[in-house]
Order: sequence, then structure tokens, then C-alpha cells
Amino acid sequence: MAVLKIGVFTVCLLYFGPVFAIEDYCSSNTYSTNETHMQFTKEPSSEEFAIAGKFKGLHCCAKGYRSIEWYKDGKPYPWPLMVSQLILYPESANQTVYTQSVTEADAGNYTCVLKNDSIAHSHTIQLKVFEKIPDDPKITYVSQDSRVRLGQNLRLFCEAFAGRVDLPDAHNEVVWRKSGHNGTLDDEPRVRQEKISREDGQTFGTYLIIDNLRREDYGEYICKITKPGKSIEQRVYVAEKSEVKYLNPNPVPVTKLILCMSAIFFLCLAAVILNLQYGLPLRVRFKDSFGIVEENDGKANDVLILYSSKDSEIALGVLMPTLQTKFNYKCVSREFPLNLNYWFGELQDEALKSRRIIALLSPPVLNDTWTTAGIYQAIKQLQALGPKLICVTLKELPKCENETKNSQGETLSSLTRTINVIVWERAKDDKFWLALRLRLPPKRRNDRLVECRNQSQGINDSRLTSDSDESFENFV
Ligand SMILES: *[C@@H]1O[C@H](CO)[C@@H](O)[C@H](O)[C@H]1NC(C)=O
Ligand SMILES: *[C@@H]1O[C@H](CO)[C@@H](O)[C@H](O)[C@H]1NC(C)=O
Ligand SMILES: *[C@@H]1O[C@H](CO)[C@@H](O)[C@H](O)[C@H]1NC(C)=O
Repeated sequence: MAVLKIGVFTVCLLYFGPVFAIEDYCSSNTYSTNETHMQFTKEPSSEEFAIAGKFKGLHCCAKGYRSIEWYKDGKPYPWPLMVSQLILYPESANQTVYTQSVTEADAGNYTCVLKNDSIAHSHTIQLKVFEKIPDDPKITYVSQDSRVRLGQNLRLFCEAFAGRVDLPDAHNEVVWRKSGHNGTLDDEPRVRQEKISREDGQTFGTYLIIDNLRREDYGEYICKITKPGKSIEQRVYVAEKSEVKYLNPNPVPVTKLILCMSAIFFLCLAAVILNLQYGLPLRVRFKDSFGIVEENDGKANDVLILYSSKDSEIALGVLMPTLQTKFNYKCVSREFPLNLNYWFGELQDEALKSRRIIALLSPPVLNDTWTTAGIYQAIKQLQALGPKLICVTLKELPKCENETKNSQGETLSSLTRTINVIVWERAKDDKFWLALRLRLPPKRRNDRLVECRNQSQGINDSRLTSDSDESFENFV
């Protein structure tokens, strides 16, 4: 009777054995954590192997999820037979798909998608099906190198597939050892190795668990995977994770701050130095390349040069030819009328045809009255002409401590701060030309050389659009 009972039990075990195993699979050897958020509960393998005709199960062991969906090569469960014979095992809350007899057509990538109300995790297992037992053991999982704090627990896992060998004495196994240590690791109660196997011993592995990690536990661990006639080794490094200092929960990162600030300081310093050294040429280049080209604004000329007869040599001999031939600006020039009161009336027509006015200011312009009041009045007259004014002075403007304010509370110095005044010092010629060009309309490199007319007559296109000088030099 007893023999019969045992016999029936064995038959049951043989028949249901694999099914029992898959039922248990996700509930055994799980991570020991108290956390409840959605997570895997044990090491998920990313490669699985099987021999055609044998039982095969794939698992996504998890908790905290609301649903698990399975996909094979992107196709959602349930699968037609040609895609896969694997079916869900609902008793394991859909963590497992399995088949009693796997075929090569079942090979492929199986993805489980865990979902709760807010997030989804997915994990893919690549299933390979062999016709016969492969020569080498196939690794399904090896822990990665890791950093663990002193006093915490270490858990390493190593697992492989080697098929099932029906030979007496032949067995598959995985054993952990520590590099540089003789003997087994099991000589301390803190350290233990737990062997597991599934699918009738075809896939087998060993957990190495060390409680309360000590300094001497850090180092290299080797898992040796043995099947009859063959063994391979995998190495895993465990290093110390440095202690986080909890003494000061919100420490001000002083060194970081200092580093940051000095970096910013040096960057600013570099910017200032670069700007002093190369700023002006760069700004001119930038303006010419990207500034809004002021053509099609109905104006005939780029520049109207105003000068006194005493300065005609410098105006007509240097300023104008340089602007024309070197920088391609279309210029016209006019002498200042002798009486300041006639400037507006006599210059206005010409001024409105030009995009900029360059006024060459020097004492002769003002009948040698180089005073703040005189200059102020002259600039006011020129501003009234319309186009953007660039004053080029051949002599430093007079500095007067007690300037009288006019009715608007404006003085010459406050006025000159709002308009462009460039002092032409022959010693700093380069700088002068750059400063001047910066204030002129942008000129693209390939602009055609434009003939310059001294006195432009007969230009009837007086369709005057408002002076569109809001190119970006205002932003620079
Ligand atoms: C398991 O899968 C079936 C079929 O896809 C589904 O009806 C059932 O709700 C799932 N159960 C869980 C717990 O995900
Ligand atoms: C499965 O995934 C692997 C790795 O991503 C890929 O190399 C392989 O081609 C995939 N197999 C199938 C059948 O899509
Ligand atoms: C390991 O064993 C060898 C020989 O059996 C011995 O010479 C060596 O000292 C041992 N090393 C350790 C760390 O125990």
C-alpha cells in the first residue's frame, strides 16, 4: 500500500512537477524588502534557453502591480499557435507564461509590461530553443559589479542553463567562491549559498548571500558553473559604497560653491579680456554678418558726410574714400552751411536720402566757438535732420564742470551719452574705423562695390520710410 502511495505520488510529481515548480517560482528566493511600490521581486533573467520538446516557463516576478501584459516580438498575448504556444499561468497572477513542450517556433523576445495606476515597467526575455543540449552552459543571469555599504547585506546570483543529463553521477551546479580565498565561503554563518534549480534541473543557479557586510568581504567573487565535462567562470566585483554623512543633513556645499564662483569669476575675466582685445572687431563682424540689411528702405545713400571746408581734406580725402572703397558704403558729402540757423533747411533734403549722417565736428564748424553750448546746439540741429547721427569729432569735446542745463534738464554730456560720438585720434586709427563701422548699416561681404557720387542729384525716389535703424547694434 505504502509503495503504491509513493508510486502514485511519484507519478504525480513527474507529471505535475514542472507546474508545481512554476507555481513556486515567483514566491521563492525573493528579495527581502518591505517596500510595496511596483518592482521586480527577484533577479529577472534576460536570456532563457530550452530544448525543443521539453517544458519551458518564462517569469516576470514582481509585486505592487495592477496588471501584467505579455508580448512576444511586440505581439500582445494571447498568441496564435504560429507565433507562440506559450500560455499564461493565471495561478501565478500572470507572472508566468509556459508550455509543456517548447518548439523552435516559440523562440523570440518575450516582454512583460507591469503597470500600476501611474507607471509601467517592462522587461524582455529572449528565449532561445535548442534542438539538442548545447556544449557550453548558457548563462541566464549573473549579478553585475556592485557597490554595497558596510553593514548591509550582499546578494549575488549566478544562473545558467545546461539542459538535463541523464547520467548517473552527472550533475549541474553553480558554486561561488571568493578570489584569493581557499575553500568554500560557507565557513561563517553570515555567509550562505542557496542552490536553486528549475525545469527539471535544466536551469540551475546559486545565490550567495552575505549578511552584515564587513570590510574583508569586499573584493572579487567567482561563480563557477559546472556541467558534466565543462565548466565556466564568471567574475563579479563588490566594492564599498562610501558612507553618506548624515551629521549635517543639508550641508552647504562650500567647496562646490567656491569652485563654481571662481569658475564664473574666471569666465567673466576671460570675457572682459577677450572683449577688450577682440570685442570691437567681433561686434563689427557680427553686425555685418547678422545685422538686418537696410536696403529697400527707399534711401539712396548709406552715408551723408557733413564737414566744414577747413576739414575737406580729411573728409573727402580720407573718410569718404575709405568708406567707399574699403567698406563699400555709398556716400554723399556736403559742407556745413556757414550759419547754424540754415543747417536744417539746407541739409534736410540730402539727409532724408541717407541712412546715416556722419558729422565731422571740429572748431571751424562752429566758427571756432568750441564750447559746450555751441556744440550742444549743433548736435541738436543735426539730430533734427532725421537719420541716425554719428558725430566724429576731431578734437576732444570741452569738459565743463558747471554746464548749464537747458529747459529739459539736458546738458551736452548727457546728450552725447545718447548719441554716437567718436573721437578721431589718428594714433588709434584702427579703433576709430571699427567704432565707426559698428554704427553704420550692416554690409555683407559679397555686396557689390557701389560707385559713390559726390553730390547726388535727381534721385526722385523719395518714398521715405521711417528710419529703420533698429538693427541689432542697439542690442549689442
Ligand atoms: C491575467 O491575464 C488575463 C488575460 O489576459 C486577464 O484577464 C487577467 O485580468 C490578468 N490578471 C492579472 C492579475 O493581471
Ligand atoms: C530579440 O532581441 C535581440 C536583442 O535586442 C535581438 O538581437 C533579436 O534580433 C530579437 N529577436 C527577435 C526575434 O526579434
Ligand atoms: C591557500 O592554500 C595554499 C595551499 O593549499 C596555501 O599555500 C595558501 O597560504 C592558502 N591561502 C590562504 C589565503 O589561505
